[in-house]
Amino acid sequence: MPISDGSGHPGQGLSRRSFLRASALTAAGVTVIEAASAIIGQAEAAERSGQPVVGPEPVPITLKINGATRTLQVEPRMTLAEALRGILGLTGTKIACNRGACSACTVWLDGVTVCSCMMLAIEVGTRSVTTIEGLANNGQLHPVQAAFIEHDALQCGFCTPGMVMSCAALLERTPDPTAEDVQGAINGHFCRCGTYPHVIAATLAAAKARKA
Ligand code: FES
Ligand code: FES
Repeated sequence: MPISDGSGHPGQGLSRRSFLRASALTAAGVTVIEAASAIIGQAEAAERSGQPVVGPEPVPITLKINGATRTLQVEPRMTLAEALRGILGLTGTKIACNRGACSACTVWLDGVTVCSCMMLAIEVGTRSVTTIEGLANNGQLHPVQAAFIEHDALQCGFCTPGMVMSCAALLERTPDPTAEDVQGAINGHFCRCGTYPHVIAATLAAAKARKA
């Protein structure tokens, strides 16, 4: 699996996962040589395990997305976010940092929020993916979506789908949240437009609306 440098061009034989792991190791104070040795060790172990090697050519996968089953061909290096946007046309999921630092790409996997830029599409397996396109029900906006509009909780809107997914997930696990709960849920979401107070007000209002 060649590495993606974010430009869409394959690199020289490291997997994206290995690269991210190496970056984390390096950031943690491990030298580049030590990190490279760790990767080579993993590659040798994988080779010895006899597990089939996939890629770099596209492979078929089946994803459960927003209640539908979709079969698609993905390069093994392709992230879930790239597959959603580039192959399935679900462009509501945004890619901003593309490195797990902003949460713009948040979707649900079996109801749990994940950064879809940090997961390979081939890793999803049988888990159900829910994107912002799948949140409305029979044309009826999710209460969080409606409250975001009502409370003016967006400006440019680039962070908004990810924020909505995290706030909606919060209401699933904590139907009556406090403002601190909402703050916790959107921890890690970067909004350059500074909509945070409105996001909190909208989510608290959505929680009330759901109970009414
Ligand atoms: S685009 Fe995925 S965390 Fe920023
Ligand atoms: S609304 Fe613009 S980045 Fe959040």
